[in-house]
Amino acid sequence: MPQTPAALRENHPGAEWWRTAVIYQIYPRSFADASGNGTGDLRGVTAHLDDLVSLGVDAVWLSPFYRSPQKDAGYDVADYRDVDPLFGTLDDFDEMLAAAHARGIRVIVDLVPNHSSDQHPWFQEALAAAPGSAARGRYLFHEGTGAHGELPPNNWESVFGGPAWTRVTEPDGRPGQWYLHLFDPGQPDFDWSNPEVQEEFRSILRFWLDRGVDGFRVDVAHGLIKPEDFSDHLPPIDREATELSLQDAPYWGQDGVHEIYRDWHRVIAEYDGDRALCGEAWAPTIEKTAMFVRADEMQQTFNFPYLVTGWDAGELRGVIAESLAAYPAVGAPATWVLSNHDVIRHASRLDLPPGGRHDEGLGPLSPVKPDPVSGLRRARAASTVMLALPGSAYLYQGEELGLPEVIELPDEARQDPSWLRTGGERYGRDGCRVPLPWVAAAPAYGFSPDGASWLPQPAEWAALARDAQEDDPDSTLWLYRTLLATRRAEGLGASALEWLDGYGDDVLAFRNGNITVIANLGDRSITLPSGTVLVASAPGVPAGGAQLPVDTAVWMHAG
Ligand code: NOJ
Repeated sequence: MPQTPAALRENHPGAEWWRTAVIYQIYPRSFADASGNGTGDLRGVTAHLDDLVSLGVDAVWLSPFYRSPQKDAGYDVADYRDVDPLFGTLDDFDEMLAAAHARGIRVIVDLVPNHSSDQHPWFQEALAAAPGSAARGRYLFHEGTGAHGELPPNNWESVFGGPAWTRVTEPDGRPGQWYLHLFDPGQPDFDWSNPEVQEEFRSILRFWLDRGVDGFRVDVAHGLIKPEDFSDHLPPIDREATELSLQDAPYWGQDGVHEIYRDWHRVIAEYDGDRALCGEAWAPTIEKTAMFVRADEMQQTFNFPYLVTGWDAGELRGVIAESLAAYPAVGAPATWVLSNHDVIRHASRLDLPPGGRHDEGLGPLSPVKPDPVSGLRRARAASTVMLALPGSAYLYQGEELGLPEVIELPDEARQDPSWLRTGGERYGRDGCRVPLPWVAAAPAYGFSPDGASWLPQPAEWAALARDAQEDDPDSTLWLYRTLLATRRAEGLGASALEWLDGYGDDVLAFRNGNITVIANLGDRSITLPSGTVLVASAPGVPAGGAQLPVDTAVWMHAG
């Protein structure tokens, strides 16, 4: 049942909402466009809140909508306390927040503390100031190497490709210092050892907490503190490495980051309503990921080791078991996730061979392409497994429609800085960011009133539009609704998992509370135990069905 706004402000020590919540990620520019300029906005979010109520989510997380030149789709913030006109106004935000709370939906906003935009007044001030000045001290300006400082200070690479340093022209016109940007040059990294930076972010947290937000998703949570000596990355970064091993670079996961989250823990604890911090903390192991959610730090951290695990029963069981040992050991819930705005959508990814980097995207010339039918079948099974796991889960907008990665985007439409900075070597993340289809027969599938869309939507998406799925009980939309309603009714988020053996190496089988979950990841049908099938990820498994086809998962009342 939806909670009243007053109930949302109560505290429940040990039974806080975020321990079990299903949280829906809204990527505002691609969710719904009320203004008609082709980019989604906050009024578009408000207009569709009832659709999220009918889906059955507990909360939403909104990716950045702050003032920004949009060099990295808003993850380059020029003013942390205002809404970019592209997305609306602060009043639109307040209205959206109140409307969400009135429906019992909590709201988490994105906080981008590792870097600002190069258009942030502090960075502009730093550029105009002298080397060694207090203004430069808020960022990471260093002298170059080489006889005349013409080489970068070290060999660190930007996540988006190319060097992580850019040289500035000093106010007197001469080439001067270099500044660090682990991402785009338009995203200079802050110096988090500077107390002024620390105080500014406490104040930004309070600004949004005072407005009533329920928490923050913390961008690049593993990257804020840099090693003091700024020495080279040795051996130099291996581009072929997997996503998780890339996290071994010296600028990720420094111990000092945990001090920052202890500080923020104290800030949010001053507020009512069980506010929460969720870390985007990429770490090489589950143990290291779990360190971000020790009792005095954040409340949640995305389980990326789970996200990058391929469609393999043994590996999935391993990562789930390891997670269920590591998170409770620090008193935290596991936070499951299969898709977000940075990785290939799981309706495509799960049909790709294992390994590889999921932020590199897919495009017309990609050497391997997923099969959409098998990808969707696996995605539905994977979500059926995920939503039965104890803890919290994040959904990414459009996965409830079974949207695949868009592969055939024209080059000229692509906007991801990693596509631009690698000269097209990496397709990047635009393929998972295409605006949502709401109405099959409407212009831009109802995303925008006049048919504008900042990325083109594929013709096949008419069949996936939300209204087209509404009347089809076998649709992905209805699968998600049923899973979420059953999860809530059975209290799966708060229960405990017990593995069931004897089904073979290609099968994941466990019990959570009264629900038995069986997923067949092998290449032949298996026989189900006796009992009643409550939910099946694919159509055609009868309620008393004895056979479970390949790439299918069920929730059962065994008996
Ligand atoms: C992680 C965000 O999810 C991603 O979209 C962004 O490009 C980087 N952090 C830099 O802010």
